[in-house]
Amino acid sequence: MTDTASAGAAPEGGALSNLLHETRRFDPPAELAANANVTADAYQRAADDRLAFWADAAERLTWTKKWDQVLDWSNAPFAKWYVGGKLNAAYNAVDRHVEAGNGDKVAFHWEGEPGDTRTITYADLQKMVSQAANALIELGVQTGDRVAIYMPMIPETVVAMLACARLGAPHTVVFGGFSASALRDRIQDCDARIVITVDGQYRRGSQAALKPAVDEAVAECPDVRNVLVVRRTGQDVAWTDKDLWWHDVVDRQSTTHTPESFDAEHPLYVMYTSGTTGKPKGILHTTGGYLTHVAYTHWAVFDIKPETDVFWTAADIGWVTGHSYIVYAPLINGATSVMYEGTPDTPHQGRWWEIIDKYKVTILYTAPTTIRMFMKWGAEVPARYDLSTLRILGSVGEPINPEAYVWYRHNIGHDRTPVVDTWWQTETGGHMISPLPGVTAGKPGSAMTAIPGVSADVVDDAGQSVGNGQGGYLVLTEPWPGMLRTIWGDDQRYVDTYWSRFPGYYFAGDGAKKDEDGDLWLLGRVDDVMNVSGHRLSTTEIESALVSHEKVAEAAVVGASDETTGQAVVAFVILRGAVPKEEAQGAELVKELRNHVAHEISPIAKPRSIMVVPDLPKTRSGKIMRRLLRDVAEHRTMGDVTTLQDSSVMDLISAGLDSAKGDED
Ligand code: WTA
Repeated sequence: MTDTASAGAAPEGGALSNLLHETRRFDPPAELAANANVTADAYQRAADDRLAFWADAAERLTWTKKWDQVLDWSNAPFAKWYVGGKLNAAYNAVDRHVEAGNGDKVAFHWEGEPGDTRTITYADLQKMVSQAANALIELGVQTGDRVAIYMPMIPETVVAMLACARLGAPHTVVFGGFSASALRDRIQDCDARIVITVDGQYRRGSQAALKPAVDEAVAECPDVRNVLVVRRTGQDVAWTDKDLWWHDVVDRQSTTHTPESFDAEHPLYVMYTSGTTGKPKGILHTTGGYLTHVAYTHWAVFDIKPETDVFWTAADIGWVTGHSYIVYAPLINGATSVMYEGTPDTPHQGRWWEIIDKYKVTILYTAPTTIRMFMKWGAEVPARYDLSTLRILGSVGEPINPEAYVWYRHNIGHDRTPVVDTWWQTETGGHMISPLPGVTAGKPGSAMTAIPGVSADVVDDAGQSVGNGQGGYLVLTEPWPGMLRTIWGDDQRYVDTYWSRFPGYYFAGDGAKKDEDGDLWLLGRVDDVMNVSGHRLSTTEIESALVSHEKVAEAAVVGASDETTGQAVVAFVILRGAVPKEEAQGAELVKELRNHVAHEISPIAKPRSIMVVPDLPKTRSGKIMRRLLRDVAEHRTMGDVTTLQDSSVMDLISAGLDSAKGDED
């Protein structure tokens, strides 16, 4: 293993410039490779006959009627997978494990933020889901009706989703951090008639009411018949004549319910993507293809061994990562998972590591933004806990900087665990590009290659595949089972958004490059791409260069308009805890960082200004809101901050603005 990231010359114009060069490699641990669920031959098998490969993968599910055709693509881009097949999602996730004699197996070790815990077995889950399904039937829910779920990370959220799936009533889960108006828009867009929620949730040690937002939203949704309320915090809540307590309606129901089978293409759920502009898009996932895709990838990419692994996706169920890898995939595979309600620093910064130690977690899946937060808190925090059970670490949500990858691997994985950097989207349903932990020699910062059965490429403006060493636009060149089927209620927008930029290809909206070996590096959304003096620069590469400096914990880079260069690079950095205050505020440090970027990437990537900030504006799913940082960088009045996790962050950044101007030279 060598340890360098060296500069390369920037090619002119065309696609994205390929600048950062990473030479570290991490081979799969021998024992993991020897026992891996998936070996290298899977790539060849899938390449030889992609549809036969996905037909095999679908055998992970229990079908009541087998499909007649694996894929019908005759009406592209509207796909049908496993045509003619029938199955029930909840039966596959729960009942069949009980029938197989695994009713006593733990499905979830649930840990509440205040420290309360619940252990839920597959048999428990079967009873709870049956009761909830019976309750929904009593409330008039029929196959095809939509149900909105606005809840925190508690077991009833999983139960509510599975009860809907059991009845063939598509759920739309709205993240509990969203506002009343966001909830209202989503309820209206998918015309949900029932809403399931809680009185309140625990957040950073206090009770935060959730129900008032539902009341406000439902006041403008006359078609909602009932609101089913789970009691979580016990705090006082206002009550309307549509409201019903979950414990009054669900607890008295029969604990058995016979599931019906639905068509493979029956809608399973609608998940709204939090776009920065425009109306949110309701991404529609259906049953057979989606479940096959998530079950296969969970088994292949996390090498899940349901008998021995303890799996933890530390994300919110309100996002697609939670849908696919907290709920559907782990349950379909019969795994044991950890589910944690709260924030990582409640009541102390070691909470996650304490949970891993307590439940002997073997696989952890989280986001780079969280990893960088842990970096900021310092490696001494996880060092206090026993993390020796961990065998695989996963990353999702944004490009992982090489330094964050190496920190994660070293301080959490103790250099024993592969890191799987999984690229995918709400739209793709499940993993698309990722290393396989028993096969791939990982490169820090690279998502490596498309998984078996998936076809990805990087193309230039004209849609031509680029060569190794070049950058461009990431596309998916063949349909895949977990693909979105449409945008709810707007087929044309589905075609226009995803299938029109490059005819015949799905365009993911991300920039990517192929390195000299042809491995893929994600470079961020193409609208986060800057154009500096005719060079297209990726925000991600410059951020990674900044984070590779020993004093930097986290960085966000935006392009600000510039008279001479078109756009100029403006960086915002959070320093590591150990940097003394005097130094953190000095011009010396800024110079050092600018030179570091020049050295790591190229002088053209040198930020025009660097601002040291206490925090960065992030959406509730952890994505940096570069739009707001661009406003600051271009000295504009700030845009809409309502989707920010913490809107006071922007005041702090703006207050520091004057001191940053002096950095420009
Ligand atoms: C980004 C989350 C780089 C990407 C599952 C994508 C990533 C968007 C990665 C989808 C990764 C996700 N490396 N970028 N490993 N994973 N992204 O819909 O820009 O919330 O298009 O789905 O996140 O975000 P979404």
